[in-house]
Amino acid sequence: MKNLKILITGKNGMLATDIIQKLNRQSTEVHAFDEFELDILDSSNVEQKIKSIMPDLFINCAAYTAVDNCEKEEIAIKINGESLKHISKICAKYKVRLVHFSTDYIFSGVYFKPILEEEIPKPINKYGEGKLLGEKYIREQKGLDYLILRVQWLYGKNGKNFVDTILKLSKEKSELKIVNDQIGRPTSTKFLADVVWEAITKDLSGTYHAGPKDYCSWFEFAEYFLRNSNCKLIPIPSSDYPMPAKRPLFSVLDISKLENVLKSDLLQTTWKQLVDEYMERF
Ligand SMILES: NC(=O)c1ccc[n+]([C@@H]2O[C@H](COP(=O)([O-])OP(=O)(O)OC[C@H]3O[C@@H](n4cnc5c(N)ncnc54)[C@H](OP(=O)(O)O)[C@@H]3O)[C@@H](O)[C@H]2O)c1
Repeated sequence: MKNLKILITGKNGMLATDIIQKLNRQSTEVHAFDEFELDILDSSNVEQKIKSIMPDLFINCAAYTAVDNCEKEEIAIKINGESLKHISKICAKYKVRLVHFSTDYIFSGVYFKPILEEEIPKPINKYGEGKLLGEKYIREQKGLDYLILRVQWLYGKNGKNFVDTILKLSKEKSELKIVNDQIGRPTSTKFLADVVWEAITKDLSGTYHAGPKDYCSWFEFAEYFLRNSNCKLIPIPSSDYPMPAKRPLFSVLDISKLENVLKSDLLQTTWKQLVDEYMERF
């Protein structure tokens, strides 16, 4: 396979950092930019970068991910949604494949079994609305080769995340209340970077759900990675922990479509294995 030339946005983000690390270990030529070097809202800068680099792939890791702030910050819908209109158009114009990440938060959460890619989205918060708009622009762009990976509950060494927050709190407090009625697939960004690499080397196109083999509640997740801690964990319903943005309850993404095409052992990894590996660095 020829060396892939890859442009990455949002290079200091949690997922981008692990993707860049993964790509740097392969034969790839990586051109990564932070928001000051390449603001994805600036269509002329997006075009200028693509024109001068002429990458094979444009991996868009840039996003506005502070879910609660999305409720009031109008810029969020521009970054997560509207920017994908010009990004898609420019990628199609220069025949650059677009890799983009979406979220389980495009779904309402009123399900009893894992959600398939074809399920009709119904976001219940502004972050989900923005991400869905971004997906729509990508899918509507004629002549665009794209891969959208919908992912959920990410944690990684280079970003604010549930594992680090709860670990820190568990050292400061004797008890912690954790919601037990939101269910998903806790996914490390290191694992996701491996999935992304497999997906791009196998030339996957379209929309796929990605994550580890199994799923759990936030409470079960915390109970597992804090099993050696003295901090007492108390399960609570989401209604006892109101947040500005509503969260879907059961939003487990069904990953069987990706399993069927990748046919990889990678997707047999469990969330417990991922978090164990993550905790080894502490
Ligand atoms: N984190 C999760 O649990 C989760 C769940 C589902 C889906 N996702 C999706 O996965 C992808 C990666 O998420 P992540 O957790 O790695 O996010 P992240 O850590 O917040 O990284 C996003 C990066 O984008 C940058 N950025 C913001 N606005 C930008 C702009 N206008 N132009 C260029 N860069 C900009 C941010 O910079 P600043 O920090 O300086 O603003 C940040 O470095 C996103 O598409 C996200 O929606 C994440």
